[in-house]
Amino acid sequence: MVKIGDVGVSEQRVVETAPVKNEENKSETKSTSTSVKKAKSRGHSLAIEDLQQNKKDSTDELDLFKNNIYIVFVECETAGNVGFLARTMANFGLKNLVLINPTTLTQEAYYQATHGKYIVENALIYSSLDEFYQSKKIDFKIATTGVAGGSYNLSRIPLKPEQLGETINVNSKIAILFGREGNGLTNKEIEDCDISVSIPTDPTYPVLNVSHAAAIIFYELFKNKHEYPVEDLVESTGVEKEYLINDMVDLINSLDIPDHKKKNGIKTFRNIINRAFITGREAHTLKGILRRLKNKMG
Ligand SMILES: C[S@@+](CC[C@H](N)C(=O)[O-])C[C@H]1O[C@@H](n2cnc3c(N)ncnc32)[C@H](O)[C@@H]1O
Repeated sequence: MVKIGDVGVSEQRVVETAPVKNEENKSETKSTSTSVKKAKSRGHSLAIEDLQQNKKDSTDELDLFKNNIYIVFVECETAGNVGFLARTMANFGLKNLVLINPTTLTQEAYYQATHGKYIVENALIYSSLDEFYQSKKIDFKIATTGVAGGSYNLSRIPLKPEQLGETINVNSKIAILFGREGNGLTNKEIEDCDISVSIPTDPTYPVLNVSHAAAIIFYELFKNKHEYPVEDLVESTGVEKEYLINDMVDLINSLDIPDHKKKNGIKTFRNIINRAFITGREAHTLKGILRRLKNKMG
């Protein structure tokens, strides 16, 4: 099992130092009196270009991370928790706070936010989740829960935060939902999400304070941000995935099996597709295959 920090940190180091650790650079570093001409040798300038490109990619990724992730607090009950959540967001560079049907935002919210006060001031308020999803054209919805279901309830098989951090692609618009302090998210709200995330805790007391849960999840997303594939590997949009799933639904419905097995099969396919963060190209390829299968079956 991957331990928090192990793989992510060592991979991060390899990625960051690779361009300056090539042989040409090593020899140039040794000779301190190297002429300007030599410093401008092909290998050196390539390494600098690599470094500059890496820096630019990281900046682009950070911008995507900041702009495309929406933190959604559903029907928060205490203003103070809005402030704590905003502060945690600011710690990890997040800025889009969405409040669904919130309690009154008293001074406590602004006070607890400290340097994240601007996030509370700019929070977007909606009366329902659907209204928010539509208005921001959200591609991918993530539920967070301290009450992780088992395989008997397929849509609740949760990812661990580090798994989310390793696979999430910030090229698409993402909503991360946090639930009410008292009752968390409803089954329906979780069901409507593409995946759920749960922080492993002692089973005798699995539920964290919302901003503490947020800190753990944000950290896991943030530490891997420079590893997101920005070019070529563009994650499929919500619509592309829906088309693919609809093709599978047609195929499964055409089979001669009991209804409950069809329902289970559809749900399983949907869960796998959502967990896999497939690219647009992969969605397209799979769709083509399903079409051919459908045609073959008449
Ligand atoms: C205080 S908890 C809600 C408690 C509620 N009784 C429940 O059963 O969900 C508020 C929110 O914090 C987040 N949260 C708490 N513990 C978590 C955990 N172990 N993993 C992921 N999120 C968690 C979830 O968003 C949850 O809806």
